[in-house]
Amino acid sequence: MIIVRPERVADKTEIQNVKASATATLRQTYRPKQRAIDNKDKIRGCLQRVVAAANGRVVGTVQYSLESQIVRITGLGVHTDYRQKGIARNLIRHLEKISIEKKVNQLKLHTVKETGNVDVFRRLGFTVVAERESNFFESDRFDKLTEVEMIMRLPVFCSAIHPGNKLPGILTG
Ligand SMILES: CC(C)(COP(=O)(O)OP(=O)(O)OC[C@H]1O[C@@H](n2cnc3c(N)ncnc32)[C@H](O)[C@@H]1OP(=O)(O)O)[C@@H](O)C(=O)NCCC(=O)NCCS
Repeated sequence: MIIVRPERVADKTEIQNVKASATATLRQTYRPKQRAIDNKDKIRGCLQRVVAAANGRVVGTVQYSLESQIVRITGLGVHTDYRQKGIARNLIRHLEKISIEKKVNQLKLHTVKETGNVDVFRRLGFTVVAERESNFFESDRFDKLTEVEMIMRLPVFCSAIHPGNKLPGILTG
């Protein structure tokens, strides 16, 4: 059984293992430039982490930040031994629930096209909204890397529009 929950202090080593496994995969395609590392450092304090545990062991993790109208996703990673078993899907579903609870109607992420992850995120319900040549990442394998911005739109329950309604209006937009 897969349980998705906020991180705990005791998860530290298992999270490091998952991150190492995910990073090793990504480094086969690209590495961050210093400006990307600096940007990540700036937002570090705003990030919250959830983990996916299978049989009590942390096998996947993702971080998110709550911004005014979006939940921004970063650092999604699943341990190699547990890939293609729905762990990322469970983590993203958890973030969808958090977003809806917070009345935020959009999840957003950036991914590097050359990793092949655009298709994975499409399967998870995201749509490409922008692409640009990357200034933040570099590669020995590719002359150019493409950063892709993807979003998932969520329903917003807006009872204020229909006060007194037992079933609130659903706005998708
Ligand atoms: C990308 C990653 C997070 C996916 O995690 P995962 O737990 O294996 O993904 P899931 O099992 O939930 O799969 C989600 C969907 O993507 C598909 N998918 C996942 N990996 C795939 C692959 N390597 N090839 C083809 N399809 C793949 C699954 O089939 C599933 O689609 P479906 O339900 O329609 O069949 C994982 O491969 C990983 O950690 N990679 C290294 C780090 C990384 O790339 N992080 C993302 C940075 S933006």
